[in-house]
Amino acid sequence: MAETAVKRSPGRGRFITFEGGEGSGKSTQIKTLAERLDAVKMRAIVTREPGGSPGAEIIRHLVLSGMGKLLGADAETLLFAAARDDHVRTVIRPALSQGIWVLCDRFSDSTRAYQGRLGKVSPELLNAMERVTIGDLKPDLTFILDVPVEIGMQRAAARRGSGAPDRFEAEDVKFHRQLREAYRQIAAGEPRRCVLIDASADPGTVAAMIWTAMRERLFATKTGNAVNPA
Ligand code: TYD
Repeated sequence: MAETAVKRSPGRGRFITFEGGEGSGKSTQIKTLAERLDAVKMRAIVTREPGGSPGAEIIRHLVLSGMGKLLGADAETLLFAAARDDHVRTVIRPALSQGIWVLCDRFSDSTRAYQGRLGKVSPELLNAMERVTIGDLKPDLTFILDVPVEIGMQRAAARRGSGAPDRFEAEDVKFHRQLREAYRQIAAGEPRRCVLIDASADPGTVAAMIWTAMRERLFATKTGNAVNPA
């Protein structure tokens, strides 16, 4: 977890999540956004799910190795939830309450898309787990990076080189198409929280779209609580 530092922004920090399918470029964009916030003297941390805290990183290892799949969809979802519970309690909430902004690579929309839509885990179970792990903690802003499946899979393959695909990268094209659709539906269903970004463009263009949305949605609030970055 890298911390970009300098000055504490007033009040509670903002919680910003990045979502999308394989090879959508989330990590590059989170890094760029963290650097931009740092440049305007805002304190932010970058973190990820599954993982982001020592306990959750152990569970990450378990689920990405494919072990969780052997337990069945519901139990695998419980593993993601256990990881999230630790991460939220030990990293995300403490940072936000100190006025630090949190940029998180994947969060509960990943569970909704991967385990819910694709794994067919029931909405009742997902809701129950969200009550326990997240409670009232909703992201202030969620970027959903949308990229055609063929491009995303090519990027993911190029990134891993000769390494083996992980549990979800190994799924087929149909899975990734449904995943993209699931994310697009989440974006359409919650337009106040979510911004769908065309991530097939070059990284600089995508970063510019993200910064524009940040300015419009988080910096230009009427509360007087907002920072005023360059
Ligand atoms: P990761 O290597 O971080 O992939 P990516 O770069 O695509 O984010 O692996 C995380 C994988 O875990 C990814 O395939 C999505 C999956 N996942 C879920 O299925 N449910 C979840 O709740 C989360 C947070 C991730």
